[in-house]
Amino acid sequence: MRCIFVTRDRFPSSMYKKLEEVGRVEVHPYGESPWSTRGVPKEVLRDAARRCDALVIYIGDLVDREVLDAAERLKIVSTVSVGVDHIDVEYAKRRGVAVAHTPYVLADAVADLAVGLLIAVARKIALGDRLIREGKAAPVWGSLMGVDLKGKRAGIVGLGNIGVAVARRLLAFGMEVVYWSRRRKPEVEFALGIKYVDLDELLATSDFVVVALALTPETERFFDREKFGKVKRGAFFINVGRGRLVDTEALLEALEDGRLAGAALDVFDVEPLPPGHRLARLDNVVLTPHIGSAAVETRERMAELAAENVVAFFKTGRPLYAV
Ligand code: DGY
Repeated sequence: MRCIFVTRDRFPSSMYKKLEEVGRVEVHPYGESPWSTRGVPKEVLRDAARRCDALVIYIGDLVDREVLDAAERLKIVSTVSVGVDHIDVEYAKRRGVAVAHTPYVLADAVADLAVGLLIAVARKIALGDRLIREGKAAPVWGSLMGVDLKGKRAGIVGLGNIGVAVARRLLAFGMEVVYWSRRRKPEVEFALGIKYVDLDELLATSDFVVVALALTPETERFFDREKFGKVKRGAFFINVGRGRLVDTEALLEALEDGRLAGAALDVFDVEPLPPGHRLARLDNVVLTPHIGSAAVETRERMAELAAENVVAFFKTGRPLYAV
């Protein structure tokens, strides 16, 4: 009988039920929330890759060469995420292991959070909340002055499904939206009335830079000192992609020297973000712990889709969404 190994024990129950259609489901006693970005130990993954036919994982569970080299029976890795930067996809292909993910179903939830973060940093929502709780709001009203969204330019870097969903929302706020992406999308430009610009122009002219780019070996540390040096003075930087797209030291410098008016970040190069991190000491930075897709309905759908990928793979030879 097939063995299907799931690295977390508290995913929505519908996921485990679906997986039972195609094999015996073995669940790692992870213990904490299944949505924690803390990965399961390497030995667990190696052992599962050796013994099982399918691995169902979440971000943080690192399926690298070492794990894939242990794979004897493994045929598919299915991740409950759209991002696959925790999997060595090329090497998996070489080893004949399919990789599946969960695109589309989380685009709206992540876009909602991106816009929430953008407004939170532009209008100092998190800072206002903090000051009220500390009993300090009244004396510092001046420092709670934000900026309007209407009439401002938002530059979206990476126009996948999430980028498009962000664009739709920002247009509704009366913003002008431009984008840069590795692949130009004329059909989206036409449908939404947004404009493609080259990256330098986007950085130099946008009041809000919103990052929704996929992390690949080519985009690692995409936002480095040079790129932050090109950003319009006084712009805001919002990242809902991956933390490793950004050189954090360069981001801190841009915030500390005032080039950036603020940043709102859902993702970090190290997650969870270590307590007392320099980013957490800046009042013009809003931080959330990688909760872009963390809405009940969305996470349920992601978990089900990860299971459906495995079921489709064993029934038809192809997952629904292969990487
Ligand atoms: C994804 O799906 O890649 C998100 O970042 C995790 O929820």
